[in-house]
Amino acid sequence: MSCSRRLLCAGFLMSALLEYGAVRVTMKETRLEVVQGDSVTLPCSFFALNPLSRLNIIWTLAPFSDPGSPTQVIVFDHGHVIEDPSLTGRVGFAGLPWSADVILNSTRISDAGTYRCMVSNPPEIGDPGIGELTVIVMAPPSLPLCLWEGVTDPGGSVALSCMVAEGVPVPEMHWDKLEPEEISLPINMDGDFTGLVQMVNISSQTSGLYRCSVRNLLGTQNCYINLSIYSPPASSPGILQGVLLTLSMALVLLALMVLVLWLHHSNQERSRKGKEDKEYYNEIRYTPSLIKRSFV
Ligand SMILES: *[C@@H]1O[C@H](CO)[C@@H](O)[C@H](O)[C@H]1NC(C)=O
Ligand SMILES: *[C@@H]1O[C@H](CO)[C@@H](O)[C@H](O)[C@H]1NC(C)=O
Ligand SMILES: *[C@@H]1O[C@H](CO)[C@@H](O)[C@H](O)[C@H]1NC(C)=O
Repeated sequence: MSCSRRLLCAGFLMSALLEYGAVRVTMKETRLEVVQGDSVTLPCSFFALNPLSRLNIIWTLAPFSDPGSPTQVIVFDHGHVIEDPSLTGRVGFAGLPWSADVILNSTRISDAGTYRCMVSNPPEIGDPGIGELTVIVMAPPSLPLCLWEGVTDPGGSVALSCMVAEGVPVPEMHWDKLEPEEISLPINMDGDFTGLVQMVNISSQTSGLYRCSVRNLLGTQNCYINLSIYSPPASSPGILQGVLLTLSMALVLLALMVLVLWLHHSNQERSRKGKEDKEYYNEIRYTPSLIKRSFV
């Protein structure tokens, strides 16, 4: 657009100011990435015609976790700065009154979202100037939680699950079996933050050490499961026969002992009776001792 005449130019400028509001806001960035814990400067410049004695700046945040409920971050009004209580000590203006930039210190994942910078400068007329800026707070994955459930008997099925609470960008997840040999396992994602591995008809070969690793460009975290499938010892016929043989031998021995005891006892009985009736049983007195001798 070329302004050939001064008057026309002024007229154009006026109409532009009326159309876009008296204060014009420009955002140097529309998207910023910051690593959790670091500081970030949110730039917001404005152009105003009048003196800045009644400058009013409002920063709001529509967090990604709840975009429908924007919250106030920091306000400059009548020369005073008002911080959101939840951000006290972490947020401040940098460059007042010439710019509306703010610094956010010790960033957290919850700081991520769409920031809006609104500037008005009464008595300038019109709507406040507005600029928007998206802030991504990147974070390494948090320590994942490894769980298993199912039946650890041979032929049963077991599900391994891995849950990670945090991580920006969304971490990639892997399940591997590490021992006895390293193999990677097919994984089903349940949403972005839970990975499942299903194992059916398991056997003692399923036993081993399993690892879930979660990874993004900021870091890697692991959790482990040590799975033991107890299979009953294979029933060996040799052992069983041995056990049965020992058992029957013991029984035979026991029967013999009982017999010997019984014979010994009856022998004593007879010899006692024999003493009582010496006359009648004299001849057969020796018979029990003969029998006894034959057994012992
Ligand atoms: C943010 O951190 C910087 C550097 O450590 C410090 O100068 C500034 O005062 C901090 N801002 C707030 C609001 O705490
Ligand atoms: C389960 O595994 C065993 C041995 O690994 C195999 O003999 C059997 O056929 C399998 N059963 C099924 C239903 O896949
Ligand atoms: C896994 O468990 C088995 C048996 O309980 C044990 O021998 C082995 O040392 C364990 N491995 C690890 C890495 O904990």
